[in-house]
Amino acid sequence: MGWYKSLVLPIVRWIDAETAHGLAIWALKNNLVPRADDATDATPSLETEVFGRKFANPVGLAAGFDKNGEVPNAALSHGFGFVEIGSVTPEPQAGNPKPRLFRLYSDRAVINRMGFNNDGADVVAARLRKRARRGVLGANLGKNKYSEDAASDYAKGVEALGPYADYLVVNVSSPNTPGLRALQGRAPLEKLLRAVIKARNSFAKGVPVVLKVAPDLTDEDKSDIAAVVLKVKLDGMIVSNTTIDRPVGLNSYDQDEKGGLSGPPLMAPSTKVLADFYRLTEGKIPLIGVGGIASGKDAYEKILNGASLVQLYSSLVYHGMDLVTEIKEDLVRRLRKDGFANVSDAVGAAFPEISGKGVPVDEVRAAKEAQAAKKN
Ligand SMILES: Cc1cc2nc3c(=O)[nH]c(=O)nc-3n(C[C@H](O)[C@H](O)[C@H](O)COP(=O)(O)O)c2cc1C
Repeated sequence: MGWYKSLVLPIVRWIDAETAHGLAIWALKNNLVPRADDATDATPSLETEVFGRKFANPVGLAAGFDKNGEVPNAALSHGFGFVEIGSVTPEPQAGNPKPRLFRLYSDRAVINRMGFNNDGADVVAARLRKRARRGVLGANLGKNKYSEDAASDYAKGVEALGPYADYLVVNVSSPNTPGLRALQGRAPLEKLLRAVIKARNSFAKGVPVVLKVAPDLTDEDKSDIAAVVLKVKLDGMIVSNTTIDRPVGLNSYDQDEKGGLSGPPLMAPSTKVLADFYRLTEGKIPLIGVGGIASGKDAYEKILNGASLVQLYSSLVYHGMDLVTEIKEDLVRRLRKDGFANVSDAVGAAFPEISGKGVPVDEVRAAKEAQAAKKN
């Protein structure tokens, strides 16, 4: 494994980002990416059940890595508990002109303005039909750039991919499709989600539908979205997509490229938005926390702040697939240290008034440390 990290990843650095990504998909497809020996070992404390689905662990591959559903099983074999493919649009689409993917080395971050490049729902559905079904697969749906009927686009995605998915994602948060994020507004969102739920009930009965939101939302946006999600009885939310903001302190050559920023600079802002939605939805629906996870500590922080599951993408660019196993091992240690028998016991522990999980985990930890210090 070491040779891969010390030899292959530094070479990949000199290849342009999108070519490197294509190579990663090719290598996964051909079983050429070395796997940690214990990548898929069962770990009871990480097993969890969320929206009626059983997850071997709560660490998932975020949308955008496997846009076309080419390598979900290969990704699962590297230890992910679930994989989200897409975003997929009804018609195939080329996306924005290249270059459109940038690695911000000094910040360990990524900027992308891909623009939903994908093979289209029919081709992806045909691929998924042939797949040996295992693990948990989410299908993330988008709309075509020039489509004027968003609801019909998402409904088509549900019809094509719903039968092969364990959950469906309504992605209205990519910054790279003009007008898309306006669908997060109260009235358009309610209309859209009702149409998607109707399509789900016709074509993919029982498949959970979740909403993926941007991190760049006002307080009013957030309370509107939470109210709609609860009103239409959506199954969950993913918080968050990339940010159009450029936090101060970025220190990379390409930091002013247009597009969505992801990776560690997104960790704090997206976790804040996650916590906001946990409070606003009063812990009533499961949340998937994504944005900036680069370690077990980051994943744990999302869980304490209300995430039932977590996802990552950008940090894999810098750390390789081994990171998945490292995160899981660290999570197991952290859960044990804080006295949680299972990851589900830690969900929302930063907000005991909502999660009903007793004393805030920070206070428990501080008390334990104080006790240990007294003994010494
Ligand atoms: C190159 C790239 C492409 C992405 N494409 C999509 C996409 O098609 N649909 C989507 O919902 N999110 C997409 N995302 C966003 C990720 O799923 C994730 O929400 C975001 O990158 C934050 O997580 P991270 O910091 O771990 O990367 C993309 C991210 C990157 C870096």
